[in-house]
Amino acid sequence: MPSYVRAGELPPKRHIQFRRPDGGLYAEELFSTKGFESVYSLLYHVRPPTATLEVRPWKRPVPALHANEPLRNRHFKTAAMSLGEDAIESRTPLLGNSDLLVSIADAKRPMDYFYRNVGGDELLFIHYGEGTLQTPFGDLAYRAHDYVVLPTGTTYRVLPASPTRMLVHESTGMIKIPRKYRNEFGQLDESAPYYERDFRVPLLREPNEERGEYEVRVTNGGRNAIYIVQNHPCDVVGWDGYCYPYAFNIAEFAPITGKLHQPPPAHATFESPGAAFCAFVPRLFDYHPLAIPVPYNHSSVDCDEVLYYVSGNFMSRRGVEEGSITLHAAGAPHGPQPGAVEASLGKTSTDEIAVMVDTFKPLLLSEQTPAIEDENYYRSWIETAEPLPR
Ligand SMILES: [Fe+2]
Repeated sequence: MPSYVRAGELPPKRHIQFRRPDGGLYAEELFSTKGFESVYSLLYHVRPPTATLEVRPWKRPVPALHANEPLRNRHFKTAAMSLGEDAIESRTPLLGNSDLLVSIADAKRPMDYFYRNVGGDELLFIHYGEGTLQTPFGDLAYRAHDYVVLPTGTTYRVLPASPTRMLVHESTGMIKIPRKYRNEFGQLDESAPYYERDFRVPLLREPNEERGEYEVRVTNGGRNAIYIVQNHPCDVVGWDGYCYPYAFNIAEFAPITGKLHQPPPAHATFESPGAAFCAFVPRLFDYHPLAIPVPYNHSSVDCDEVLYYVSGNFMSRRGVEEGSITLHAAGAPHGPQPGAVEASLGKTSTDEIAVMVDTFKPLLLSEQTPAIEDENYYRSWIETAEPLPR
């Protein structure tokens, strides 16, 4: 989590009596991680968040995943996929393993229910669209190119103001800021590519004190349920702590560039158990007079690399387009396509925007992927007579 935040009204001490204007007690909620031993927040509800009227089954489809067999590099085109209207129901898993599930989703209409993933943190990347995530911590506005971090157990609903396409990462653990960016006190250090000021936190509104029947769909590692609760989840008058949803727009990412090519870890944004996230944003290229701007050839022997192409001119890749996903599988060689090195020489900057996640366990493919795969991608490094456009 970025740092300590407080919002709204709070009692002077935690765990003491804190009364409403009508004399009743506010209901304190500990929103914690790793039991009681890691980051947490304390929220003060007008009425208890525990008042459950009914629990019903939620028959949520289980993603069907199969091995990347034969093991090869792959390219999926997601732009034209028709996913649905609802930010949760439209989630379409594409890749996954026991640490992470990667899906795409559309939000075209407001959710009339809340959603809570208790199985791990979620990281949304907003490709396009804008709107609001309504949470007990307040309203978190989102816009294109935002990363949104939702800690385990965050209750939320997506209220799009315009059609929204997002890349969804469901982790089984915590999505964290890399340790290398923090000083001994936890503050982002001077060499980090972002700063606490770049992170946006929810704006706490007046508590919704209505009582009724509110639907909260809960998921936890494949177990699902629909809770009908008596009190509106957004009835919070104040909260403080280190654990809360937040947003970070990658336009705020200040990329680290160098005299020679910087490897992907220089572009790291977040990490989670078994996965590392990076953002490639508009930047100046390397300034050695003989520098080669595009990456070298390599085989990532111990991780699968997933790139999601957002916008710009993707210089080292022929055939990719906005919404393309490339999977460079551990051990499968890849690099600039023929002609890309020569075409890149002398270029001083790039306008490309892409986000990446590397996983250390092999990624499986969902049953949705054959229909959107460019099956010849693994042959796209073959030399042809056709030069790359400069
Ligand atoms: Fe790579």
